[in-house]
Amino acid sequence: MTVVSAPGKVYLFGEHAVVYGEPAVPCAIERRATVTAEPRDDDHVRVEAQDLTLDGFAVEYANEPDERSAVDVPKPLLDAATGYVDAAVEQARDAADAPAAGFDISVSSDIPLGAGLGSSAAVVVAGIEAATQALGEPLDRRELADRAYQAEYDVQDGQASRADTFCSTMGGAVRVEGDNCSRITAPALPFVVGFDGGAGDTGELVAGVRTLRDRYEFAADTVEAIGDIVREGESLLTDADPDADPSAGLIGELGELMDINHGLLSALGVSSRSLDTMVWAAREAGADGAKLTGAGGGGCIVALDATDETATSLDYTPDCEQAFRAELATEGVRVEEA
Ligand code: MEV
Repeated sequence: MTVVSAPGKVYLFGEHAVVYGEPAVPCAIERRATVTAEPRDDDHVRVEAQDLTLDGFAVEYANEPDERSAVDVPKPLLDAATGYVDAAVEQARDAADAPAAGFDISVSSDIPLGAGLGSSAAVVVAGIEAATQALGEPLDRRELADRAYQAEYDVQDGQASRADTFCSTMGGAVRVEGDNCSRITAPALPFVVGFDGGAGDTGELVAGVRTLRDRYEFAADTVEAIGDIVREGESLLTDADPDADPSAGLIGELGELMDINHGLLSALGVSSRSLDTMVWAAREAGADGAKLTGAGGGGCIVALDATDETATSLDYTPDCEQAFRAELATEGVRVEEA
């Protein structure tokens, strides 16, 4: 039995614009998806999923999705939970040259599903790593990140950047610009996350930005302005001492850029009333900056606040279902048990 975990992430800057070749800086956070893989004697895959904000359920199916046993779970939820696992298993079979490999897989996660914290990327990264390790064919990190991206790309019909999967594989803060991905240095930033209990439809939100960008030159300029914010923020991060506590000045400057980034995302139509309410609750509580994270439409915001004020205020905000502090996860994918 092989047990592997991989972290979720927040976007410090750059979601949506990254789809059009602008840079983005996601940061891995200490909220993890854990996947257990045990090879089977046949070519079946049995998936047991827990804590994916679904009720716990188990489903066993053969290679053909149509042959899946009926389970008492709505199809979209079933697809969400199993689609990424399917894609991870396919990548592992291909990498290990074992097309008929079967597995008992179990997935658990403390990352809210589809809420902008990279839950699906974490499941895919941990799933490929667990399955290839279980077959005795471990991958190097770059290949793992590439295959995880390919898996997300397939499940999301081509609407995926490398940001989530690269960040979950490598951990820490990363810079993504098209196919170029690298880790960058960053001090331990005081992230606070607010979650409205919902999720946006990434495909629809990405398509909405594309339509605006195609129709209006100023919307295209807005996407480019997000790229400028990312470049500015990145140089602040890389100039800072990664081993020292971040200074109030640095957090203030990053926070200001986050506020502007949120305003531009809002202008592109990807915020929502609950996200805006949480952003304002954070700012009024004294956060240095706050923005939505991920595709938007609902889900999570991320704020910077070294004190407990933002989390406390979000706890009392009716639109916020859950608020928590999120540490930067310096380690990416990790084998927990071989
Ligand atoms: C979704 O988490 C982030 C987007 O930029 C899409 C992507 O990068 O794949 C909206």
